[in-house]
Amino acid sequence: MKQSMKDKVAVVVGAGGGSGRITALEFGRQGAMVVVADMDEEKAKSCAEEIKKNGGNAVSFACNVRNEDEVKALMDYAVDTYGRIDVGINIVGTNTDFTDITEVSSENFDLMYEINQRGMYYCMKYELLAMKKNGKGSIVNMGSVGSLVGQRKQGAYNATKFAVAGMTKSAALDFAQDNIRINCVCPGPMMSDGMKAALEKDPNFADQYLVDVPTGRFVEQQEVANAFIFLASDLASGITGVALPVDGGMAAD
Ligand SMILES: NC(=O)c1ccc[n+]([C@@H]2O[C@H](COP(=O)([O-])OP(=O)(O)OC[C@H]3O[C@@H](n4cnc5c(N)ncnc54)[C@H](O)[C@@H]3O)[C@@H](O)[C@H]2O)c1
Repeated sequence: MKQSMKDKVAVVVGAGGGSGRITALEFGRQGAMVVVADMDEEKAKSCAEEIKKNGGNAVSFACNVRNEDEVKALMDYAVDTYGRIDVGINIVGTNTDFTDITEVSSENFDLMYEINQRGMYYCMKYELLAMKKNGKGSIVNMGSVGSLVGQRKQGAYNATKFAVAGMTKSAALDFAQDNIRINCVCPGPMMSDGMKAALEKDPNFADQYLVDVPTGRFVEQQEVANAFIFLASDLASGITGVALPVDGGMAAD
């Protein structure tokens, strides 16, 4: 899949850290012009710099997805800079609790809703408006295996991730005739920076996450990035409305 994003303009939201950063770097390697967005301006800048160091083309933009005006400004900036948006990659999300819903505070419930669900809605809305003007496009959202199946101690988070799959599938129907494809990637537990740090402290920490994963290992962030590239690219031209598990077989169980 070398240079499968050549000459495409891709906005990657939540690209300052974690799997968003790894995905943005891969879009750069694949030849995209990347607009790197994150609420952490320094992290967004550093990701864009790394893309350029690798020979790619990128700019950065500070944007908190909890604020509709900032999301609109991000998409306007992408169009002003590169002329259009071909690909929208919405990765930003947060998980505040590993508890049942009686122990999740209203504040944390609202925070997950505002970032994972409402923020995703703002991103999709302004990407779609730009893509409609351009007559084509592809959006890939970050879901989770928790968009597809129930999981213990993830009730509040999974409510937002089921919403991501629901918005993805419904919008895919609404925009199919506009030549805009919309899909989501649904990872199982990923080897994130937070997970690496926790494992250094306690090698048994992973057990609670891996008990339900058939492959018995974490999904690598690069494996998730590869799924974003595939669904965004013309290789997936016949695919829309899909919630694709990248979960070591977890959702099949
Ligand atoms: N970590 C996992 O095991 C796992 C599994 C499945 C799905 N996911 C999903 O993957 C996505 C990324 O998770 P991660 O653990 O790789 O990322 P992370 O938590 O390491 O990084 C998230 C990035 O998002 C940015 N961000 C946070 N709130 C923001 C906001 N309001 N506006 C703009 N940017 C904001 C942060 O600054 C950071 O750079 C999330 O949607 C998460 O739900 C994670």
